[in-house]
Amino acid sequence: MKYVDQINGSTKVYGLIGHPIKHTLSPIIHNTLANMLGNNMIYVPFEVPSGGLKEALVGAYQLNIQGLNVTVPYKQEVIPFLLKLEGYADQIGAVNTLKRSKDGYIGYNTDAEGLLQSLLQNDINIRGQNIMIIGAGGAARAAAMVTASQNPKQILIVNRTQEKAQELAQAVSRYYNVPVKSGSLDFIVQDFPVDVCIQTTSVGLYPREDQSPVTDETFFTQVQAAVDLIYNPSETLFLKMAKAAGCKTVNGFGMLFYQAIKAYEIWNEIIVPQNYVDLLFQSLKK
Ligand code: ATR
Repeated sequence: MKYVDQINGSTKVYGLIGHPIKHTLSPIIHNTLANMLGNNMIYVPFEVPSGGLKEALVGAYQLNIQGLNVTVPYKQEVIPFLLKLEGYADQIGAVNTLKRSKDGYIGYNTDAEGLLQSLLQNDINIRGQNIMIIGAGGAARAAAMVTASQNPKQILIVNRTQEKAQELAQAVSRYYNVPVKSGSLDFIVQDFPVDVCIQTTSVGLYPREDQSPVTDETFFTQVQAAVDLIYNPSETLFLKMAKAAGCKTVNGFGMLFYQAIKAYEIWNEIIVPQNYVDLLFQSLKK
């Protein structure tokens, strides 16, 4: 963390807005990076109560805050207040990073890039592969768009509410020329080849650790890699079942970590050296 006695008139202020934000890891990531790289900046969490988003953004801009991360429940609500969207933000319809510009804040979605980077770091290839996405909410939308952008063979989206899976499949098809199918959760045990399965629902999240959206472990015998966007617990029942069947498994910590690295890079217009990234990743994973 940046030492308080190093803050001066040139210190750039960044932060996180959301509700609740008590358990965020973002301050430690950004403040440690700032220290490592010698950037005169500080990152502060700001709890924004419901109904207060617009005022918070106007205030942040007037206070010369250089950038913000946006978390639950404001990732969609924030969009009308932004100057423009960049990268994946528009197709996902959600923003988690704001960068100050002359005329307002610009919105990015680094969750998507964070997931991509996490897959890359774990040698999980998407190109030419059969991808299954479980879920059709905001996290699923990021996962679907980002995997579609990597030229998979096909994507299957399954969800408890089948209509939502269908809507997401249609949305993906509007942006990418990739075969996309949709189905109910029952589809999981049916005959669809799956190389990489990405679990995006809240099933298995603490304290519901005994639950998994996949209940038939034979499903995993054909799967190469299983990815769960949940990081608490670090190994969900979904990942335990996948591991037992011999799949490579990856939890959501990498996505969380790399979305922060991407945000830091956007704000500071730099590429964080890989040795710093690795050092920080190892120290936080402990
Ligand atoms: P997020 O933005 O984190 O993705 P969300 O938009 O609320 O959160 O989406 C939650 C996802 O988890 C949805 O796909 C939801 O399925 P429905 O569309 O049918 O609601 C899924 N989900 C939540 N609880 C579930 C449960 N008990 N069983 C199966 N799916 C569940």
